[in-house]
Amino acid sequence: MNATPFLRIEKVSHRFEDAHPVWALREVSLTASEGEFVALVGPSGCGKSTLLRIVAGLIRPAKGQVWVEGNPLSGPRPDVGMVFQHANLMPWRTVIANVRLPLEIMGIPRAEADARAREFIHLVGLVKFENAYPHQLSGGMQQRVALARALVHNPRLLLLDEPFAALDALTRERMNLELLRIWHYRQTALMVTHSIPEAVFIADRVLVMTPRPGHIAGEVKITLPRPRTLDMMAWPEFGQLAQHVRDMVSQTQNGGD
Ligand SMILES: Nc1ncnc2c1ncn2[C@@H]1O[C@H](COP(=O)(O)OP(=O)(O)OP(=O)(O)O)[C@@H](O)[C@H]1O
Ligand SMILES: [Mg+2]
Repeated sequence: MNATPFLRIEKVSHRFEDAHPVWALREVSLTASEGEFVALVGPSGCGKSTLLRIVAGLIRPAKGQVWVEGNPLSGPRPDVGMVFQHANLMPWRTVIANVRLPLEIMGIPRAEADARAREFIHLVGLVKFENAYPHQLSGGMQQRVALARALVHNPRLLLLDEPFAALDALTRERMNLELLRIWHYRQTALMVTHSIPEAVFIADRVLVMTPRPGHIAGEVKITLPRPRTLDMMAWPEFGQLAQHVRDMVSQTQNGGD
């Protein structure tokens, strides 16, 4: 791996200070090189969303440091695209107005912003819903709008928190393929998912987290070639990799940590 990884998370621990203080993360360290797709799996409540928010610059970790291209992260960056676990769309804005928001913030002229937003609305299969409001969409459709919004400004770092959890199995497979097509090795990506096959299908590396306070228990390098195709899911190698991840997950849950 490169001497200066695109993303370096160094011994990040976090504790939420409220009525029931809880350590959510314990000394999480990981790196991702430029253009690498890293998937993160781990049990509910182990701190995955917290970790993504820290990397997005939305939460300052209690301990440790995040580095992007060798510089310490001090807050949100414009070159990051994030899909939250819940779509987080602006309810008073139409689909197209939600998707073009990052471009508006960057000061891109309206006509250009709309054209680019339309391109991404097309990619996520929502052409007919460009002028709909979020409450008129299903949960899965809202999540697709969120994905379009995360990608529209061509971010260098993509943070995805269970982006496809609300989708049916068939749409999910299609979105997995679409995501890989849109991503096309361009962004460094960190994706949380509860689906082991999805993690293996999409990522270059799958990291397994322990229960709370979460830390990285191990990783599985995904040796499948790219571009990935759905038929690879039937390959023996795919099954072996998924089993390897599954074993690691069950070890951490049996107190193997
Ligand atoms: N804003 C907050 N205030 C207080 N505690 C929080 C906050 N956000 C998360 N936590 C706590 O931190 C821990 C980790 O939460 P987090 O949402 O990061 O888990 P997760 O791994 O994303 O879980 P899931 O898979 O269910 O989405 C949990 O115990 C949760 O209760
Ligand atoms: Mg979460």
